Amino acid sequence: MYKRTHTCGELRKSHVGETVNLNGWVNTVRLHGQIVFVDLRDRYGKTQIVFNTDSFSGDFEAVKKLSMEDVLSVQGLVRDRAVSAINPNMDTGKIEVLVTDYLILNEAAPLPFVLSDRENAEENIRLKYRYLELRMEELQQNILIRHDAYQATRHYLSDKDFVEVETPFLMKSTPEGARDYLIPSRIHQGQFYALPQSPQIYKQILMISGYDRYFQIVKCFRDEDLRADRQPEFTQIDLEMSFVDEEDIFTTMSGLTRHIFKTVRNVDLPDSFPRLTYMEAMDTYGSDKPDLRYEMKLKDVKEFSDASEFNAFKSTKSVKGLVVEGGAKYSRKIIDEFTDFVKKYEAKGLAWMKGENGVLTGGISKFFPEDLQKSMCKKLSIKDGDALLMVGDERMTVLSALGALRVEIARRENLAEEGVFLPLWVTEFPMFEYDREADRYFAMHHPFTAPRKEDVEKLDSDPSIALSRGYDLTMNGHEIAGGSIRIHAPEVQKKVFSLLGLSYDEAKEKFGFLVEALTYGAPPHGGIAFGFDRLVMLLAGAENIRDVIAFPKTTSATSLMDECPSSVSREQLRELGIQLRKKPEN
Ligand code: AMO
Repeated sequence: MYKRTHTCGELRKSHVGETVNLNGWVNTVRLHGQIVFVDLRDRYGKTQIVFNTDSFSGDFEAVKKLSMEDVLSVQGLVRDRAVSAINPNMDTGKIEVLVTDYLILNEAAPLPFVLSDRENAEENIRLKYRYLELRMEELQQNILIRHDAYQATRHYLSDKDFVEVETPFLMKSTPEGARDYLIPSRIHQGQFYALPQSPQIYKQILMISGYDRYFQIVKCFRDEDLRADRQPEFTQIDLEMSFVDEEDIFTTMSGLTRHIFKTVRNVDLPDSFPRLTYMEAMDTYGSDKPDLRYEMKLKDVKEFSDASEFNAFKSTKSVKGLVVEGGAKYSRKIIDEFTDFVKKYEAKGLAWMKGENGVLTGGISKFFPEDLQKSMCKKLSIKDGDALLMVGDERMTVLSALGALRVEIARRENLAEEGVFLPLWVTEFPMFEYDREADRYFAMHHPFTAPRKEDVEKLDSDPSIALSRGYDLTMNGHEIAGGSIRIHAPEVQKKVFSLLGLSYDEAKEKFGFLVEALTYGAPPHGGIAFGFDRLVMLLAGAENIRDVIAFPKTTSATSLMDECPSSVSREQLRELGIQLRKKPEN
């Protein structure tokens, strides 16, 4: 092999006249009679190399048979390209390398898909041959952006006195929200480790142990339903700080976010990030992670519908609407699609009217007298050509249906400008969500989140209205981080466990070590975890979380490349003391 003297992205006009060695993959081959042009590629770029019978004395027929993704080692002379052949889109586009000798280091088998055409290759095939897909420029860029984000994170946090500590992957199964991935123990048959859903308990214990500021870039594992921004194993930037309140967390974490965006994308985020309470976010945008890149706020129309003759809305608790600019263009068919869309969020239907000549027409407008229509146009800022889309129902149904419709319309109309990043802190979440089916409370954040000071007594009087010291950092419609000020008093922690339906004994059995640790001098503390993959998605402009993870799982939690999960041998099961039941027939 000719050991490389330069990478494939390095040669410029200043190298003309030098003899160089390049190593890389055949990106493209073009035959022009007795000249063969090859673009040789590595991680750093591409260089055009030229096989010409005048300068190359080897087997020319073999050169003509080179195919995509063969691995070559070439030696040659750097020369200027003819003016007409200069390629301004390539960093190395002004030069080419005239090959004097070359070696094929590895021949590539016929490819299962064309590497330059990602869109047209089926995702399952790309995931099966992930090693080939990872050669594609888009993925390489994403992986490099991810690398930059790791480095920016470590620099910033280390400079600010955060200590990087690794916490175990094999831990006790502790209910935190999602389902645990379990690992059977061979030594202690019938017993299981769980993979951490997050290092939550360990990081709190590190605060109790006096480490003051902790961080870790860490894998977390959750056996939950997957979506475009969820993976069963994903990465967090996990952080915890002692002797802090919300303001300290917001300042430090906004600083970290700003630093990452500046270093990785050269984007300046605002000095201070805006805030909304959970209530405000829900009422205004129908979402606790609103995309602020477009307006389209939810408007209250209850007072107008009550004054109308439209009776269906009179008995409902809440009626809200979206004013869609230019929405009068929507045909019946599209409105029917929107109606089906909101039904997925349990709305019973979607009522509509359109702005025309200063009044409202179509849909349910006939139930609204003209004066009322005029007043609606004025107060709700409905212009000619706009549409008003309305849902009336229970408050939360109205909010979630219209919130989702807001995002759907923005997607169809391309309202969100790319390259714009709008962070937002969402605060004052409810402590609990009541699940009617299970007839019990669930923690909205997790069971270690402190109630607001003024709400501690509500834990006894009416837990459903108690607000927490939890917060999320959102950006462009994604929840990129979530955290809270923690409970550091063992009594409050026990109380919260009991509200979550854990008896004292169960709590002791599941979280006893934490409750005990809290009794040995726990400092007030709080923290947060960033969804690192989601952050990288935003930095890379990726639509799918799989595009920023080197070896992701499919939506059914499988890896097509190494074919996992897979069966194991009887011997392995025997060692673990596990016997499989026959697969139940459905
Ligand atoms: P939480 O559960 O909110 O908090 O997770 C923190 C952040 O992790 C990201 N995230 C995910 N990303 C990809 N795939 C998933 N399945 C997934 N689940 C969550 C989100 C989320 O904001 N221990 C607490 C943090 C704390 O309180 O400090 C925790 O894990 O971006």
